[in-house]
Amino acid sequence: MHNQVTLIQHPLIQHKLTLMRKAETSTTKFRTLLKEISLLLAYEVTRDLPLKSEQIQTPLASMNAPMLAPDKKLVLVSVMRAGQGILDGMLELIPSARVGHIGLYRDPKTLIPIEYYFKVPHDVDKRDMLVVDPMLATGNSAVAAVERLKSTNPLSIKFVCLLAAPKGIERFCQAHPDVPLYTAAIDEHLDEHGYIIPGLGDAGDRLFGTK
Ligand code: URA
Repeated sequence: MHNQVTLIQHPLIQHKLTLMRKAETSTTKFRTLLKEISLLLAYEVTRDLPLKSEQIQTPLASMNAPMLAPDKKLVLVSVMRAGQGILDGMLELIPSARVGHIGLYRDPKTLIPIEYYFKVPHDVDKRDMLVVDPMLATGNSAVAAVERLKSTNPLSIKFVCLLAAPKGIERFCQAHPDVPLYTAAIDEHLDEHGYIIPGLGDAGDRLFGTK
């Protein structure tokens, strides 16, 4: 495996992911599970956030206690539309993060990703960026999204997904060897429509109940 890839195999994540994969899992349950997993993913991907000591007073004594460094700011970027499912969970854990959105669709003839929406905070160049999208399938949209986001000059970028296909990982790591990639599982392959097998189906449809 590429050393820029981190496979997050916490038992709670694995269990919840299995529930998400089940075809009979309802939209409501799917959404709740993705939110819960996202809290755990956020915990993992923020492990390296720097701390600063602050003098505080407990009810019994004063102490030097760690706090997140105030100058370390995050921006979460959701790759629409399924990224919203991870975004909601992460924001619960990191409520002060700013939020960006990027929307891409695949041109049916050329298969090239076309941007249809792009909005990020104006101070993105002073923030570390977490790009979230549950499914890394062919890697085409992840590669295009990160390319576009790099042009806004964030301090750093990490890409966080739930499920990845080996082909998508390969493509992403070739295009962006400088961007750490986090995933909770690596599945077998893609089908002829670009779906991850065994996967969990269309993440957007399952999240929003559009099918
Ligand atoms: N996007 C999805 O939602 N599911 C897949 O399996 C692949 C891409």
